[in-house]
Amino acid sequence: MSVVIWAEGRLRTADERIVTAVDHGLTVGDGVFETCAVYGGRAFALSRHLRRLARSAAGLGLPAPDDDEVRAATAAVLGAAPDAGRLRITYTGGPGPLGSHRLPDADQRPTIVVLAGPATRAEASRAVRVPWVRNERSPVAGLKTTSYAENVVALAEAYRRGADEAILANTVGELCEGTGSNVLVERDGALLTPPLASGCLAGITRELALEWGREAGLTVREESMPYEVLDDVLAGVAHLALSGSIRNVSPVVALDGVDVKAGEASRELQRVFQQRAADEIDP
Ligand SMILES: Cc1ncc(COP(=O)(O)O)c(C=O)c1O
Repeated sequence: MSVVIWAEGRLRTADERIVTAVDHGLTVGDGVFETCAVYGGRAFALSRHLRRLARSAAGLGLPAPDDDEVRAATAAVLGAAPDAGRLRITYTGGPGPLGSHRLPDADQRPTIVVLAGPATRAEASRAVRVPWVRNERSPVAGLKTTSYAENVVALAEAYRRGADEAILANTVGELCEGTGSNVLVERDGALLTPPLASGCLAGITRELALEWGREAGLTVREESMPYEVLDDVLAGVAHLALSGSIRNVSPVVALDGVDVKAGEASRELQRVFQQRAADEIDP
């Protein structure tokens, strides 16, 4: 399927010009976004995604997005794309100066674009370590901004090495997250995920995995870990899993090109997540 586009109040054709060349999202990456999984024509966990969109916008100093407008746009694109696997909501500073400064608040007119498109899902993930770090002290740490160039470069490196995700440390050498996923380390049956203070995104899948995993009797908790914990994964004494809106919970079966075993608790969490997600579209 091709991508279905909504912008400025209505559906658009792929060849329509929509966003102006001076949009601050385009010129300086001044914007925020969300990606939701779509099941049977409905966006998964849309309310949680909209709350995070508002938090990210506030963190950038953008006015709050209009939830009703985004929900209407979502209904429009999903209505026109019954086979969609993912929904993408982008919210930017709108037309602005060519520099990083913004127009006065009254003159700021944010841009909203909502897209529905296909998604490919794999049961397992292949990860690589990369030398770059997340800055947990960045003014945009934990915000889902459209400034994703660092992730683009790191993910290209992962693909170049035959993997589909790159795992980053933060500036103090702690395990942080992937370019588009959170990480879980399984050790002795417990699943541990870095705390938000590591600079990782507050992933919706991570949040639900913590809630649903505990409700299913699994041990899932936040814990800060050194990046070197990945050596233990290579040595086979720990396991790794990723969480993200399109992957859901996905055990890692290769690290740095070396096959590693998926952990049993990781597989169980994957199963629990899939089952709960199938039952509750907007948990
Ligand atoms: C940097 C980063 N971390 C983590 C995630 C996972 O978040 P979620 O589970 O909300 O998709 C994403 C999602 O794309 C991301 O971009």
